Amino acid sequence: AAKPVTVTLTGAGGQIGYALLFRIASGQLLGPDVPIRLRMLEIPSGAAAAAGTALELQDCAFPLLHSVDVTTDLAEAFDGTNVALLVGSRPRGPGMERGDLLQANGTIFGPQGAAINEGAADDVRVVVVGNPANTNALIAAAHAPDVPSDRFTALTRLDHNRALGLLAAHLELPVGQLSGVTIWGNHSATQYPDVFHAQANGTPITDLVDEAWLQNEFIPRVAKRGAEIIAVRGGSSVASAANATIDHMRQWVGGTGSGRDGSDRDGVDWTSAAVVSDGSYGVPAGLVSSFPVRSVNGCWEIVQGLAIEEFSRVRIDASVAELIEERDAVRALGLIRD
Ligand code: NAI
Repeated sequence: AAKPVTVTLTGAGGQIGYALLFRIASGQLLGPDVPIRLRMLEIPSGAAAAAGTALELQDCAFPLLHSVDVTTDLAEAFDGTNVALLVGSRPRGPGMERGDLLQANGTIFGPQGAAINEGAADDVRVVVVGNPANTNALIAAAHAPDVPSDRFTALTRLDHNRALGLLAAHLELPVGQLSGVTIWGNHSATQYPDVFHAQANGTPITDLVDEAWLQNEFIPRVAKRGAEIIAVRGGSSVASAANATIDHMRQWVGGTGSGRDGSDRDGVDWTSAAVVSDGSYGVPAGLVSSFPVRSVNGCWEIVQGLAIEEFSRVRIDASVAELIEERDAVRALGLIRD
């Protein structure tokens, strides 16, 4: 039998946690043959909700679920972790200044990065979902000097999937016929959803949509979809965020060719993830920025050689400028060093 894989989820008592845990335990994250040892990290105010969810997990009698632990202790949570899903964070509250937000998250993601550095398995892979996700990943990576920085990522797969969904609806085509969409930059309203390399059944998307639609409809709607969901649903994205988290980690581990839906979309396409920049596409090295990526042998690589037109360049640069500002702000707060 396969050795259990240790999956640590922070914010396990929250909404996204509730939408994620049952999918993880049923085998949708790592496949139908991999036993899961679950570690659920919470802060004291969320521990009861996490404990209740743990009871429900037991009541599902998932054959793959090797064990479940609920803890408020960082060292316990990350001991031997192979897969870390960092969902719990301090989102921006009413009237909260950006400095306060970054400070609050620095005190969460700094110690979590240090605990990963101390105790996680050698093959640890980390995805940050909690906002501001890119900069939280930057902070965590900075506190884990012994872990290769390419193991720290932030989630932009939800934005990628939103772009696919909106494009498919507009073109009245199944999502599976679309490929080559990219999210660039920050997981925020400055992100740039790029369809200049995208295709529908081999036809360039730019032959199928006009620039006015891209500029006035598509780009702002993808970038502000989170706010649209809040306005319509009366609450933030939960199941779609959990779904994207599963997609991100499943393909990181299993490769971008391992589409679980049986379509070949994942085989011919790339996806989007925020990874530590190596300077590709003029994004300063060290920033955690979203790129077109493929996963090969369990490692992300940035898709190289895409031509970037002026239309895209200014939008990528604007989002990267925001990432630079966030990085400089957390440096000034002493949350990371140069
Ligand atoms: P939630 O408020 O329902 O749950 C968050 C949970 O995290 C709470 O139970 C809280 O007690 C816990 N938590 C807070 N600090 C913690 C810490 N230091 N250690 C462990 N647990 C901690 O929020 P929800 O809806 O589950 O969202 C979680 C985060 O995901 C938010 O920051 C949200 O902005 C972000 N998000 C990111 C998306 C993305 O695409 N990157 C999409 C949707 C949400």
